[in-house]
Amino acid sequence: MSRIDNVKAELAKEPKKWLITGVAGFIGSNLLEALLELDQPVVGMDNFITGYAHNLEDVKRTVGPERWDKFAFIQGDIRNPEDCRRGCSGVDYILHQAALGSVPRSIDDPITTNMCNVDGFLQMLVAGMEARVKRFVFASSSSVYGDSEKLPKVEEETGSVLSPYAASKLVNEIYAGVFSRVYDFNWIGLRYFNVFGKRQDPNGAYAAVIPRWIDALINKKTPVINGDGGTSRDFCYVKDVIQANILAALSNGPEALDKVYNIACGDRTTLNQLLGLIKNSLCSHMPEAGGIDPEYGPFRKGDVRHSLADISRAKELLGYTPLYSVARGMEEFIQWRVRAMK
Ligand SMILES: NC(=O)c1ccc[n+]([C@@H]2O[C@H](COP(=O)([O-])OP(=O)(O)OC[C@H]3O[C@@H](n4cnc5c(N)ncnc54)[C@H](O)[C@@H]3O)[C@@H](O)[C@H]2O)c1
Repeated sequence: MSRIDNVKAELAKEPKKWLITGVAGFIGSNLLEALLELDQPVVGMDNFITGYAHNLEDVKRTVGPERWDKFAFIQGDIRNPEDCRRGCSGVDYILHQAALGSVPRSIDDPITTNMCNVDGFLQMLVAGMEARVKRFVFASSSSVYGDSEKLPKVEEETGSVLSPYAASKLVNEIYAGVFSRVYDFNWIGLRYFNVFGKRQDPNGAYAAVIPRWIDALINKKTPVINGDGGTSRDFCYVKDVIQANILAALSNGPEALDKVYNIACGDRTTLNQLLGLIKNSLCSHMPEAGGIDPEYGPFRKGDVRHSLADISRAKELLGYTPLYSVARGMEEFIQWRVRAMK
């Protein structure tokens, strides 16, 4: 039995109470669905700045009314200490996902990014500590590796950060460190690499590349590749991110605590290969997608050329094993996307 199967069996025997911040967003709503499927009571908080009520409705449809009854939603803001206190009350584990994502958005609006990602993070740390939650698990980001060109990325070797977003995530990690040293408060930070999967927002100027390209192809539009397509990333399917969050909350060895972990697939895919994978998966549903060629645009400012995670720390200390290759995750995501159109 793998570590995650053991942990799920533990949770089935003895359910815990969870708080998910950013629950109406992409990753938050997937975490919600997974925890409700495990019959866990969940409190979720969101202010809908980038999340959607329809994500919550989709989870409700998927899990059914009985499991949905175990969910309590707070429309609240992590910048507001009273909302944070309300969210943390009686909670065992916090999975803190709420933040303003996107590097370009943070370059356009560093102040709001800092308010949500740093002030809000600190409010949640304080509320979690005061509520004596067992553990604070939070979403960090591979962007903290900044301009470091070293591959694969190892947790202790970061470069200079290249955006207000990356700075906010680095500050999160610094604050978390202070809280374990000063207040003896336990946390685990998960540096997600490029995550993809169902309910990821395809719309708007700051949409991530995978849902944007899928929607372009579905609508018979030309997907735009920034640069020559040789840029590579370690794309990670959302179900592996869920696995990592649950493992991080329940890992019990003291050596696993108060650390950051790379959460990724541990494999590198170029943008050209990625588009090929998307077209392959989409072709079985709409063969015409195969004939749409991309347009190549300029390289995006601040983008690093290659990214690849060393995931050995998460494997060793959390028992994390990615279960999805990019191709397998893409197949599942596209099946969901095509079903959602019907
Ligand atoms: N998606 C990725 O590839 C990726 C990669 C690295 C890190 N992350 C991190 O993972 C987390 C979740 O990202 P996502 O892709 O699901 O983004 P998302 O935008 O879909 O979800 C974020 C959610 O947080 C909510 N939120 C933002 N500010 C808030 C505030 N002040 N108060 C209450 N709610 C607030 C939003 O409304 C949204 O529902 C974020 O912390 C993000 O930085 C994501």
